[in-house]
Amino acid sequence: MPQPLTVDAAPRGPKPSDADPSAARPPLGQTGPPALTRSEIEHIDELLPPLSYVDGELNVEGIPVSTLWDGSGSMLLYLADRAVENYRSIREAFAAHFDVSVNCAIKACYVGGVLSALRDAGAGVEVASELEWRIAHRIGFSPDQTVVNGMFRSDEHARRLISQGAYLIDVDSDEELERLEFQARQLGMKPDVLVRVNPLPDDAFFSDRSKLGLSPDDAQRLLERVARSAHLEARGLHAHQLSRCADPERFGRLAERMAELRTDCSTSTGTALDTLDLGGGIETRYLLERAGHTIGDFAAAAREALGGQPGLRILLEPGRYVFGDAAVGLTSVLGTKRRSGHDWLITHIGCNLLPPTSDRAYPPLPIRLSGADPWSHRHVADPTPAPSRLHLDAQLPDDAAEHGLALIGCGAYSAVRASVWSTDLPDIAVLRDGDKTLVFDRAAQDAAVSALFGIDFDGD
Ligand SMILES: Cc1ncc(COP(=O)(O)O)c(C=O)c1O
Repeated sequence: MPQPLTVDAAPRGPKPSDADPSAARPPLGQTGPPALTRSEIEHIDELLPPLSYVDGELNVEGIPVSTLWDGSGSMLLYLADRAVENYRSIREAFAAHFDVSVNCAIKACYVGGVLSALRDAGAGVEVASELEWRIAHRIGFSPDQTVVNGMFRSDEHARRLISQGAYLIDVDSDEELERLEFQARQLGMKPDVLVRVNPLPDDAFFSDRSKLGLSPDDAQRLLERVARSAHLEARGLHAHQLSRCADPERFGRLAERMAELRTDCSTSTGTALDTLDLGGGIETRYLLERAGHTIGDFAAAAREALGGQPGLRILLEPGRYVFGDAAVGLTSVLGTKRRSGHDWLITHIGCNLLPPTSDRAYPPLPIRLSGADPWSHRHVADPTPAPSRLHLDAQLPDDAAEHGLALIGCGAYSAVRASVWSTDLPDIAVLRDGDKTLVFDRAAQDAAVSALFGIDFDGD
């Protein structure tokens, strides 16, 4: 039953926020995973193998940070080899049980050097717009390696997808179906179609207040329409209903529901659906492993749920799992501040690049470890006027501010959502096979300011 988009009736009496402005919020430092312990930091290679301390200096892929970054300003350093390694881990885990295609969700990362490395490794991609289709094409992903999602598309884009032979096109409403069908008829082609469904009960991300996906009943009805169409080929169902999932059982429940829906839809349409797209939504790899799971546990949960399904191809669209820990934010510390008994380190790198998704979204590592220095708890935040934080309650050596910090977990949904706002963006570089390539710097930022706002610094 759809809920009206209204705020729930307020209880009588003063709202908690009237009495105490902080009462409605969790205390600082309560959202996100536990802070890294000193021992986890000192042995970071066990959690995140591309990083290690050698002779007291942080190394990235075996290269001392001081040879990759001059220590001034900040740099977002992508680790293309880690992204490839993450892609391979998910592919191998699922290929052990299924015919599987892993289509990395490029909405999490458009950096060409990272996408090219994934292309070379044989990955496919998932795109959600014409812009992303063009990026994928430009990088060299062929249409038949490209799964297309997204809400509504221009007629021109739809025609291009159909005529160029996109691997699968997702539909998410009756109107989208009708438009796609019209274009397919005009072109005399029959594109392969998935219907998006929300198989799990509503949750905070995918409730009936979300525009995304369809209820199982509506999806079944839409799939029947696709199956009856002379211009569309019904291939299967698509779900993307998880977010930062570190629980294989929950993934297994999603797979199980998809299997049930596939059986129901195949019966009602009389068409054997050969594809189940289980979406993305898996947690950043190092966090998943820190929580005691591997991607193999997810594959095993899917096998348990789908083992009896004949003639099935599985599709996965990981974003965060592939890209999340495939970049580090190297940043100088601009200064320190003491407030309400807490010490804050204010970094050069800002929330205009790193969206503050939790209190502990970007764990900081010291760039130098002397071993002798005392350690203490510090909060880490940026210099913007936003009340944002990069990480609360980090354990760091007392001299960390002098040498700078390396924030981990910066690879997904960061550069793609960067904005020229308030503070300088970092340089952006890609490390691949030990070679570093700079892709964005201060001059590029100035060009963006000129293009976006019509302000030319003229060498200022
Ligand atoms: C349809 C779809 N697939 C895949 C993804 C990737 O999700 P994640 O980065 O959580 O793996 C998203 C993210 O929004 C999405 O909307």
